[in-house]
Amino acid sequence: TYPIIFDTDPGVDDAQAIAIALRHPEIELLGMTTTFGNVDVETATHNALLLGELAGKPVPVAQGAACPMVKPRHPAPKHIHGDNGLGNIDLPPVAGQADPRNAAQFIVDTVNQRPGDVSLVAVGPLGNLAAALQIDPSIVTKVKQVVIMGGSIREGGNVTPVAEANIFNDAHAAQKVLTAEWPLTLVGLDVTHRCVLTPQHMERIETAQGELGKVLAGSYAFYRNFYRQALGIDGCCPHDSVALAWLVRPDLFETQRGHLNVVTEGSAEGQTLFAPKGRAFIQDRWSQTPEVDVCLGVDGQAVSNWITDTLS
Ligand code: BDR
Ligand code: CA
Repeated sequence: TYPIIFDTDPGVDDAQAIAIALRHPEIELLGMTTTFGNVDVETATHNALLLGELAGKPVPVAQGAACPMVKPRHPAPKHIHGDNGLGNIDLPPVAGQADPRNAAQFIVDTVNQRPGDVSLVAVGPLGNLAAALQIDPSIVTKVKQVVIMGGSIREGGNVTPVAEANIFNDAHAAQKVLTAEWPLTLVGLDVTHRCVLTPQHMERIETAQGELGKVLAGSYAFYRNFYRQALGIDGCCPHDSVALAWLVRPDLFETQRGHLNVVTEGSAEGQTLFAPKGRAFIQDRWSQTPEVDVCLGVDGQAVSNWITDTLS
């Protein structure tokens, strides 16, 4: 099984991924940590609590970063996820409360309780992971692996021509997290843009998931409008679920080893730079960061089916 902490900013595609983390028989969701990103952090926490309750499986939720580490916050993309992060649908009230600990402390505590066991799956801006590294740098040797939905190597960006949203929203935090000495895989737009969750997929999910299914389908309808306008497709990229697909079904992906860095200033702010392993550069500082895996290929249809099968 895969014990994980899910670091998230729900968000329509985050909600789909949370449902998978709660439902997949091989994933043990130890807790969620929340960050600003698609919404403000209080809304993210509310949505994370709500989704756990709707699934009948409340898990600890620890609230984290309210803004980037260094710079002021970029505005939230309300036309993509809605003001409430879930496509502006009416939501039932939440019964439970957040864990009293800060997200970063929750990560540090949980990783130290089960050294070698816990995977961190992060699908929002990376301030919580960066703060956890600051509190306890030894977690780099204690996590099982770190899976990041973020960045783009060949695909181009979705916020600027070069920057993907999760990296762009806190490039300084991303720089720290993507260059730390821990086993890391980047699941970026190179693969998430190859996966499309169609209305037919969502119909099956809605039917199978009861109350939770209504929220997933309602928010999907809003998100679908954005994809129709922005990419001209009928369906949505289930970005954050693809990180979980990598965790459980790495056989569906092609990866390459190499070294990552993040541009933190200027017009390329938030760009992820990738130096493939073994390639010599005249300025060799690009290969001075730790070796990581980057996903560059995927069987997109198989991933979309895996998501749907997990939730049906
Ligand atoms: C990422 O940005 C957010 O809007 C999504 O939830 C996803 O994590 C895709 O670029
Ligand atoms: Ca997200």
